[in-house]
Amino acid sequence: MNQSFSYWMETSTPPEFPAYQGDQSCDVAVIGGGLTGITTATLLAQKGLRTVVLEANKVGSGTTSKTTAKITIQHSLKYQQYIRGIGTENTAMYAKANLIGFELIQQLIKENNIDCDYTTDTAYVYTLEEKHLNKLENEKKAYDKLKLESYLADQCKLPFPISGAFAVPKQAYFHPLKYLYALTEVLRKSKGEIYEHSHVKTVDKESGVVHVNGGTLHAKHIILATNYPFLDMPGYYFIRIFQMRSYLTQTQTPDYALQGMYINVGNPVHTMRSHGDATGNHLLLGGYNHKTGHQKNEKPIYEKIDLVKQNYFPFIKNPTNRYWSTQDSVTLDHLPYIGRLSAQTPNVFIATGYDKWGMTNSAAAALILAHEITTEKHPIMETKGLFSPARFTPGAAAKEFLFLGADAVKEYTLTGLTIPKGDIDKIRKGEGKVIRSDGQIIAVYRDENGDLSAFDAHCTHRMCPLTFNKTEKSWDCPCHGSRFDVNGDVISGPAVEPLKKYTIKSQDDV
Ligand code: FES
Repeated sequence: MNQSFSYWMETSTPPEFPAYQGDQSCDVAVIGGGLTGITTATLLAQKGLRTVVLEANKVGSGTTSKTTAKITIQHSLKYQQYIRGIGTENTAMYAKANLIGFELIQQLIKENNIDCDYTTDTAYVYTLEEKHLNKLENEKKAYDKLKLESYLADQCKLPFPISGAFAVPKQAYFHPLKYLYALTEVLRKSKGEIYEHSHVKTVDKESGVVHVNGGTLHAKHIILATNYPFLDMPGYYFIRIFQMRSYLTQTQTPDYALQGMYINVGNPVHTMRSHGDATGNHLLLGGYNHKTGHQKNEKPIYEKIDLVKQNYFPFIKNPTNRYWSTQDSVTLDHLPYIGRLSAQTPNVFIATGYDKWGMTNSAAAALILAHEITTEKHPIMETKGLFSPARFTPGAAAKEFLFLGADAVKEYTLTGLTIPKGDIDKIRKGEGKVIRSDGQIIAVYRDENGDLSAFDAHCTHRMCPLTFNKTEKSWDCPCHGSRFDVNGDVISGPAVEPLKKYTIKSQDDV
């Protein structure tokens, strides 16, 4: 089971950028080289601002490289929920922002002649169960209210019977990394700078000094375009955002291309679409979302996805080529946070919480942030109030808010279990376990050579206990979704510091 790279990573060539060094100044420092960061930086550089992107790993190596890459304003059945929660006018603002984001992607592709497999297609939400038909009808009513084109369908191009579907025509998909890598070239031509392997350690929010592992950068404006804002104070983002993991697979299907892009109603989530490139057609199939840190072994999920493929697409005989997972940030009210980090930090901005609908939302965020900084007028600025991070309305989302709090407590209680010291011997090669010793909780991993490594099992973000993810071989935090590799280094934030390492003298000394 190859889980190292997504299909997007395997089928694109990443550009190379140097690591940041020295003591420099700029107009805008953008932290994070994914779709949000690179798009925002491009817009700002095109306006003549000295813009510097700092990426901790490789450009596009985070969520951008793992997405289904559906460019659509159809975000499952959100619009009926939004109308109930925030009203028709605000829902219209959400739709407007995403429509403008969609147009920006089209415009950038056209203006820069970007070859990224861009294809127009219809987006569907389907159901196999009669009992869900009313949800599809309600979404259609919501679209009618918002004057958005859509239709209900008894049938679609899925090769298995359905009870009904809700369709939005003229949507699209693309190859997210081919698009992103091409955008870096547009950015570079506009004199924007990109630095990779440039890990931001701290940000002085008042003075605008960004401390990077290779030096310091003085910025008039700072944009946190990381999936989860690692600066979570002020603003209490650590209790306002949680992270979800989801899964995707790719199978080569030389003689078959599924028309349309699909997601089902309810749980488990199934998402599917085809992607065509020079090598032929590929079926992308996945879903099975869950909160980060709540699934210790992801292998059974991939087995379920393979079973779905077998049942729904029995004529596809090819084995699955690639399996991968991704992580997305979700806010309490399921609306992105785009704007100032806090009232006390007027020059620090964030964009996060796309709730797994990151293509159009990230483009919308880029436009909002770019125009906020340049203070130029743009129709998207009519929507910015909706996304203001200053809002804090746990009302409708109180259940989820409490769920988050309860989560941390539950995990602390679990780690209170006494685990016999001898258990360390039971840790098999390639496995990790949290054990207790001398009042500490220790994350112990045994590598394929049998060597042990041990870390403080508390997440360096806000000290929640970690769990071992067998499939990904990572230490995952159930509180806000940070992940660490088996060397203790951060894979994804909000944590920025690696795990504290323990030295093992002998197994009995641990
Ligand atoms: Fe916040 Fe771990 S991610 S405590």
